[in-house]
Amino acid sequence: MQPTISDEYILEVVENSTSASNKMIVKEYNKIGEGAFGTVVEAVLKYHYNQGNGTGDNVNAIHEDWIGPFAIKRVPAQTEYKSRELEILRAVNHPNIIALKYFFERKSSRDGVIYQNLVMECLPSNLQNEIKFYRQSKYTIPYPHMKAYTFQLARAMLYLHGFGISHRDIKPSNILVDPSKVQLKICDFGSAKKLEPNQPSVSYICSRYYRAPELIIGCQVYTTKIDIWGLGCVIAEMFLGKPVFQGKSPELQLKEISKLLGPPTNSFFFKSNPHYRGSMFQTKLFSGTVKERFEQIFSNSPPDAIDLLLKILVYEPDSRASPADVLNHPFFHELKRKSFHVYPRGSNNSISLNLFNFSNYELELLGPLKDELLNSDD
Ligand SMILES: Nc1ncnc2c1ncn2[C@@H]1O[C@H](COP(=O)(O)OP(=O)(O)O)[C@@H](O)[C@H]1O
Ligand SMILES: [Mg+2]
Repeated sequence: MQPTISDEYILEVVENSTSASNKMIVKEYNKIGEGAFGTVVEAVLKYHYNQGNGTGDNVNAIHEDWIGPFAIKRVPAQTEYKSRELEILRAVNHPNIIALKYFFERKSSRDGVIYQNLVMECLPSNLQNEIKFYRQSKYTIPYPHMKAYTFQLARAMLYLHGFGISHRDIKPSNILVDPSKVQLKICDFGSAKKLEPNQPSVSYICSRYYRAPELIIGCQVYTTKIDIWGLGCVIAEMFLGKPVFQGKSPELQLKEISKLLGPPTNSFFFKSNPHYRGSMFQTKLFSGTVKERFEQIFSNSPPDAIDLLLKILVYEPDSRASPADVLNHPFFHELKRKSFHVYPRGSNNSISLNLFNFSNYELELLGPLKDELLNSDD
């Protein structure tokens, strides 16, 4: 049950698309998230015009209703770290990335701290809740939904990584979904960063279960492939109903990974961090090949899903699939059929999804793969 709150206030709000500043009334009524850094509330906004300052009648007429609902994420405004979230959200525009509509700063009357408020479109759920919902009834998310969600996630990554932006905190709770539309949008850009080639960044990033192996051993010159690792963990979790690698400590996280992928190679350690002096977990902990191990752990998953996971969950970042490779994988071929449709959870009416409305920028990023991707089977 969501806790009900109620707060209403008037202040200057910046509209993201135009950068125009307007006086608006903000009405908050529900708390929807409490994360590591801030609070997320559900709210509606309304333009506030009764200033007698010559605002035209027709403008009044257009904006006299409440608009929303929106999700407002509130974080302390002072830290430089957090303003990156606003900067990145302002720069991006993609159907599978949460859209920032407005933003404003406001001093809290409770603690006197100035908070940055990001007013975003609001989605009803996230992938963590969705996985939990199906697990409780001993099911997994239906395969067509899984395919559609994964495809949208990979599409968001194609777009972000094209700009060199790494999300750096891919995990089910940062992936918003609308189950009634089988629609997915990445949120929480609080850790995101534009990675510059050969420039070091902190390696202590990403939630442990979703942290790429190169980060675990302290690699500082990593690439956007760390998000692809997270994508693999999220796909695996949709099939298993629980996180695939649940390390009890940051270092033991590598041991969990080695239980599926086999021991990391010397070349992996050397390329990622030649100074690493921690445990290398070089004893093989299972018999048979890595492929057989995947088939054993993902025994309930179709062969093309296992093949996809084998291409994503790879130690060496350079050998890990790219977003374009993921989008073009046979696991998603079904989505290309003109006849493809899904039944949203709890609905008897099927819907078709608009998953291939690539922008020119995305088509450019897809390069030679685009013809194959746009070529439908029927
Ligand atoms: N735009 C949104 N619409 C709906 N729910 C949201 C939205 N943004 C965030 N949330 C919810 O709030 C939670 C915390 O937000 P998030 O941006 O991940 O903050 P934190 O940095 O604290 O983790 C998310 O896991 C999600 O459930
Ligand atoms: Mg989060």
